[in-house]
Amino acid sequence: MREEDILQAEERRVEEAFQRSDIAISVRGLRNSFGDQVIHEGLDLDVRKGEILGVVGGSGTGKSVLMRTIIGLQTPDEGEIQVFNESMIGRSDDEALAVRKRWGVLFQGGALFSTLTVAENVEVPIREYYPNIGPELRDEIAAYKIRMTGLPTEAGPKYPSELSGGMKKRAGLARALALDPDLLFLDEPTAGLDPIGAAAFDEMTRKLQQTLGLTVFLITHDLDTLYSICDRVAVLADRKVTAVGTIDELLATDHPWIQEYFNGPRGRAATAAVSREKDREQTKQAAVSPPDGRR
Ligand SMILES: Nc1ncnc2c1ncn2[C@@H]1O[C@H](COP(=O)(O)OP(=O)(O)OP(=O)(O)O)[C@@H](O)[C@H]1O
Ligand SMILES: [Mg+2]
Repeated sequence: MREEDILQAEERRVEEAFQRSDIAISVRGLRNSFGDQVIHEGLDLDVRKGEILGVVGGSGTGKSVLMRTIIGLQTPDEGEIQVFNESMIGRSDDEALAVRKRWGVLFQGGALFSTLTVAENVEVPIREYYPNIGPELRDEIAAYKIRMTGLPTEAGPKYPSELSGGMKKRAGLARALALDPDLLFLDEPTAGLDPIGAAAFDEMTRKLQQTLGLTVFLITHDLDTLYSICDRVAVLADRKVTAVGTIDELLATDHPWIQEYFNGPRGRAATAAVSREKDREQTKQAAVSPPDGRR
């Protein structure tokens, strides 16, 4: 078999595995440490296909390390990680290629290459994973992804230093979407954005998730993001995922950090904002279609 055929067969096998399961990511018994510092111990987590899972936890609890472990940038001491039913631990980059192509990543802080333009940044994963795609098609794909994230076409030839914080995030997202992923990892996508910019970014994430059928692993401190777009939330504390569920389900637990986080002044403000938004939506709906159905 030619190398290309082997790769295609591998991609088909991953596609079939992807279709079979309801779970996109499964983590079991994960342990991570740096020297004496144990970050994760016995951590379990499932991310369901098609959901936006919010991941929260105090600073330094290991949210980014968890993400880096799932995408293979960090080797854990122990544990099993499956993405689309494929085991990710102990596999070479080449072996995991078919799965790696199915995800896109927006790192904390954006992590754009400062010496490359926005368009060149978006083209990096295309060059890496699809070296046979020629420059014209590559440019076209990059321009399309840039537009998809709401950036103007003129942003393509700009360098990251010429962009605002919000534009950098969008450029990072365009790069994460470069390979038409099924799975998106976002690490603090709204950090540093003003509330309007953050809400717009949230809305775009939700829209992309719905229209492209994405599964989203979303690390955030942003309570508005959790309330407005996350289907479920996983809480990292005490070195593991101590609770996972809808916000209502989390509020029913008596974990002190969860109570403090969601019921503190900021949590209450976010709840109030969401119920105001819901009221507004209902009023709008009622105005559009009166109860007796007349217009
Ligand atoms: N490469 C590394 N070497 C040593 N320690 C590390 C390394 N990466 C992370 N750590 C440590 O692991 C812990 C968890 O880091 P991590 O970046 O995952 O936190 P986080 O939950 O993402 O925090 P934040 O909300 O501030 O982003 C921290 O104490 C950090 O110092
Ligand atoms: Mg982090």
